[in-house]
Amino acid sequence: MLVLGIESSCDETAAAIVADGERILSSVVASQVPLHEKYGGVVPELASREHLRRIAPVVDEACRRAGIAARDADGVAVTEGPGLIGSLLVGLVYGKALAAALGKPLVGVNHLEGHIHAVLLENKIARRADPGLEEAGVPNVTLVVSGGHTVLYRVETAPASDSGDAVAAATFRYARLGQTRDDAAGEAFDKVAKLLALGYPGGPVIDKLAGFGDPEAVDFGRIRMKGSALDFSFSGLKTAVLYRVRGSTLEAEAEERRRWQSEFRAHGRRPTADDIRERCSRDTLNLVASFQRAVVTDLVERTLAAAENENVSSVFVSGGVACNSQLRRSFAREARRRGFSVFFPSPALSTDNAAMIAAAGYFKLAAGERADRTLTAHASFPLGVS
Ligand code: KG4
Ligand code: ZN
Repeated sequence: MLVLGIESSCDETAAAIVADGERILSSVVASQVPLHEKYGGVVPELASREHLRRIAPVVDEACRRAGIAARDADGVAVTEGPGLIGSLLVGLVYGKALAAALGKPLVGVNHLEGHIHAVLLENKIARRADPGLEEAGVPNVTLVVSGGHTVLYRVETAPASDSGDAVAAATFRYARLGQTRDDAAGEAFDKVAKLLALGYPGGPVIDKLAGFGDPEAVDFGRIRMKGSALDFSFSGLKTAVLYRVRGSTLEAEAEERRRWQSEFRAHGRRPTADDIRERCSRDTLNLVASFQRAVVTDLVERTLAAAENENVSSVFVSGGVACNSQLRRSFAREARRRGFSVFFPSPALSTDNAAMIAAAGYFKLAAGERADRTLTAHASFPLGVS
């Protein structure tokens, strides 16, 4: 079964063709980073307009790279939420119109479910009625950690009889175990980078710079949560960074970098992480290294605590922040020490893409799910029961 996936929930216009929920024939992602970077964050209206310009060429390109015509697809899967409403609507309307014009079945996919399926897709463990599914990573605890989300789920498959069809693909169930009460982890990376004028998006650049600083230079302490220990909060940490910068020499240094970067951009160029590092003092490098360590420690600790509570042996980590090299190392080390298997998608599938939407959509289409003609986008769209 060939599924055409479409994703436009934030600032990437993406389309992909995935065969049988496990073989990526093409995955095209048009990034809007150059459009938003001078604002230090996504500008929703600019994002919607850019999606409108890119959506048709991106879908065409995904078909071309897969060597198929859109009419050869057996179904269309489109992100229905959560995300920026103006951005979501572009991909959703395009997918809906394409499916109607070609007479193909359509399903809406929750973006968060897509991130979970990015892990399954890449580990090639989600097969139709795969008897090895349990050993291979389901049930599990999944951390989805990105610019918009920081959520913990318990993921399991419904018993075959529940799907009502002997040959139906596995149906997935999600229970929400915890989530951020304020900023998402990626948002904290982006805001700290903006404060220190390190470029946009902040995660990748802080990841690189942190390698040159001392992660123990600043002790931010553990993040304490009242109530559920599986919830997250990163706004206090962001404020702690702000207090260290404000009125200090780091502030003047950041202002200098800001001026230098806008000159760089005025010449139509983008500074690399190395260019930026050359303009960072040791104190700045130590601060970002310590900030990253505080975020990573918190993510690893709460996720593994959830895995222990849920009595699962596998942990999935997905979303843009899953690209973070220290996060990957810390998870691998701690998981091994405590006897869990941990799975990440490759970096290209960790950030927003449409292959994950096609993969999640495949299971829905195979189980007979169909969106009706009233399918619409939802800015807020929780996944699973809590
Ligand atoms: O999944 P994604 O592409 O979009 C959302 O659904 O939000 O994630 C983007 C986020 C941004 O906040 C970006 O700074 C962060 O992922 N990110 C990283 C890294 N690469 C991307 N954060 C930390 N370390 C990285 N290497
Ligand atoms: Zn995402």
